[in-house]
Amino acid sequence: MLTITNIKRAGSDALESITIEEGLIKGWNLPVEGKVIDGQGGTLAPAFTELHAHLREPGQTEKEDLASGLAAAAAGGYGTVVSMPNTRPVVDDPAIVRALIEKAQGLGLARLRPAAALTKGQQGEQLAELSYLKAAGAAMFTDDGQTNENARTLRLGLEYAGSLDMVISVHAEDASLRAGGVMNEGPVSEALGLPGNPVAAEAARVARDMELVAQTGARLHVQHLSTARALDIVREAKGRGLPVTCEVCPHHLTLTDEALRSFDAIYKVAPPLRTQADADYLLQGLLDGSVDCLATDHAPHTRAEKERDLLEAPSGIAYIELAFPLMWTRFGEQLGLDRLIDLMTVGPARVMGWPEPSLEAGAPADVVVLDLQTEREVNPAQFKSKAKFTPWAGERLRGWPTLTIVAGQVAYQRQD
Ligand code: DOR
Repeated sequence: MLTITNIKRAGSDALESITIEEGLIKGWNLPVEGKVIDGQGGTLAPAFTELHAHLREPGQTEKEDLASGLAAAAAGGYGTVVSMPNTRPVVDDPAIVRALIEKAQGLGLARLRPAAALTKGQQGEQLAELSYLKAAGAAMFTDDGQTNENARTLRLGLEYAGSLDMVISVHAEDASLRAGGVMNEGPVSEALGLPGNPVAAEAARVARDMELVAQTGARLHVQHLSTARALDIVREAKGRGLPVTCEVCPHHLTLTDEALRSFDAIYKVAPPLRTQADADYLLQGLLDGSVDCLATDHAPHTRAEKERDLLEAPSGIAYIELAFPLMWTRFGEQLGLDRLIDLMTVGPARVMGWPEPSLEAGAPADVVVLDLQTEREVNPAQFKSKAKFTPWAGERLRGWPTLTIVAGQVAYQRQD
């Protein structure tokens, strides 16, 4: 039994308490018993769900591993994380899915729901053993990091995954158009003399994929939309009633290609940072409901790798610990607390077809307490992630998680 006292629900100023028993919410404002944690006036929300994180295990544990990545997630207020399969080896084997789930269960941090590769070795040609991967516990199928160049394979994958009632998520960039682009193609890339990645690489690929959804009727989730044009295409597909969902990442809302003027590869990410007009347009998509959820694409690399020059450095920004504070500080007023929380809880659950997170009695006790007021400086040295550097170092943000409970157990509690 655990009771969290002195907490508010979003939209209310009343101080209440919530009692948790055997991994479930028992009820609100019950007589206090068992272990007590003082919520210190924070706001209680369902713990967040991350549909897109690179935890790098197996094989690249110098960048991140399950323990560091799931601790970082819990510190960011996440109760559930879908890990990407672009590891070494690739997660295309049911035994790896099972091993990841088993290992994560022993950690007592955020829950892990591993995604499995859609194709063997993420090579894009031969479908992986999708039904066995599902039976092993795979949450979804994706070749993220790779780009599903073979449309026929993706079509077959959609038919197969659809028959299993599983979601496929796609990294929608046309590799031939992206070519060697290391940043958004536009006036800034031209001024810097750096190879650009055009809007059409994303938009053309999203348009192709919408046709495959129309053909198959299967569920497709478009990852990390970065351009206004691609969002329009998704919106149009939704208007046709196609079973399409999409996510946007906070880095595409808060940073633009102007950041590359620093020539710092910390800003190199795929798809790339775009223009302010794109960022503004994506934010409108969060407001009008055409974007289904937020996801971070937490993509840790070693500092040495990210200190290479822009042409050589790998793509990726790792900031699962900052996602809520960043969004709340920058866009809290426009989005409102309820919408922001929905985009990180109910939104991802609906994409997956999972039960909607709730704070009612009987719901799983996966909750987060958020300090919406206190400004704190971002100090990457304190990150749980192995990637202890970030574009937002030194910024003052509000909305820090102070306590994350997963299955009724403390997965994170701020110490200072
Ligand atoms: O920026 C990215 N990093 N985009 C991807 O698609 C892959 C990811 C990674 O694995 O580092």
